[in-house]
Amino acid sequence: MILVTGGAGFIGANFVLDWLSASSEAVLNVDKLTYAGNLGTLKSLRSNPKHIFARADVCDRTVMDALLSQHQPRAILHFAAESHVDRSIHGPAEFVQTNVVGTFTLLEAALAYWKALPVADQAAFRFLHVSTDEVFGSLSPDDAPFSETTPYAPNSPYSATKAASDHLVRAYLHTYGLPVVTTNCSNNYGPYQFPEKLIPLVIGNALSGKPLPVYGDGRNIRDWLYVGDHCAAIREVLAHGRLGETYNVGGWNEKTNLDVVHAVCDLLDRLKAKPAGSYRDQITYVADRPGHDRRYAIDARKLERELGWKPAETFETGIEKTVQWYLDNQEWVDEVASGEYRKWVEANYALRASTLSTQ
Ligand code: NAD
Ligand code: TYD
Repeated sequence: MILVTGGAGFIGANFVLDWLSASSEAVLNVDKLTYAGNLGTLKSLRSNPKHIFARADVCDRTVMDALLSQHQPRAILHFAAESHVDRSIHGPAEFVQTNVVGTFTLLEAALAYWKALPVADQAAFRFLHVSTDEVFGSLSPDDAPFSETTPYAPNSPYSATKAASDHLVRAYLHTYGLPVVTTNCSNNYGPYQFPEKLIPLVIGNALSGKPLPVYGDGRNIRDWLYVGDHCAAIREVLAHGRLGETYNVGGWNEKTNLDVVHAVCDLLDRLKAKPAGSYRDQITYVADRPGHDRRYAIDARKLERELGWKPAETFETGIEKTVQWYLDNQEWVDEVASGEYRKWVEANYALRASTLSTQ
């Protein structure tokens, strides 16, 4: 079996669902179920004996040791993290705890487990660390996209803690020989993304007639990748990635935030038209995020050259699937948008008074 951490979150759950639809190999899903973890996403696996769920904190060494020794996985895929940049600005401590201390604790448990394996199993074992392109910092308009050799320059508490975790993973290979591989991926979008991130937030606010908050001038650029393509890349890296290597994963889809918001509004105008006007009318410019990185872009050629991976979705096909999914799954959104979520929305947007007139 494989052990997945954070498999009740956005990307982890998509990964588990995709994995079990294509493979008979079982998954041990270890998740603390923070505000971002939702078992509702995994409802379809309720009676599937290949999905074993353990509610646990990756910072808990005793529990990690016990789970590894009981289930004997051939690989650990580490998705669990605090993942929202805005939350890391409001409260960085939890990010240091889960992203740094949690990764360290999991590496220690993995190393002890791996050392005790028979030699053949040791050679086949993998610790796959799921990371982000945000560790590379911010690009200027004319800079080349991030490659695997771009120096680290994280700018937010989120990216700084992810960078620290990447360095620890690297050190466990070089110092102790733990067979690791790391992926650094660009912004994901798709089904089951928690509604505080840009795309699901815009869909939800649009449908309920609320302002669509665009930070700053809306010209910050992200390189968007459909979540199913990210999951496919992780499967490839697990199966064929070279030991100790890092692989950048991206969609060759650089878009400004305004482009993204416009695309969502235009799809909603087509799929669920308002009685009058366009959803674009709800766009509102609000105060910028402190230290807001201007541009991310990924050079994913190494992954394509070595493992033959390419994204299956373009931004146009992926965003249409995503908007349609949210229209069809309002019940899931209502379930996850708990009291805690509403408190977050108040904390993040109350102080961001509209900076320009609605456009
Ligand atoms: P998410 O916030 O949606 O989910 C994180 C999951 O981890 C949740 O289920 C949460 O309950 C769990 N978790 C948090 N702390 C935990 C702990 N201490 N112990 C066990 N479980 C814990 O995040 P996501 O968007 O699915 O991201 C998954 C991974 O991918 C993260 O490592 C993130 O850095 C990375 N990543 C995300 C993106 C993106 O665009 N979302 C892009 C590149 C990389
Ligand atoms: P987000 O989904 O939080 O991902 P990240 O910060 O990890 O890239 O945000 C994506 C972009 O959208 C980012 O540049 C910030 C911007 N943004 C807004 O303009 N308004 C919003 O309400 C949110 C949540 C994000």
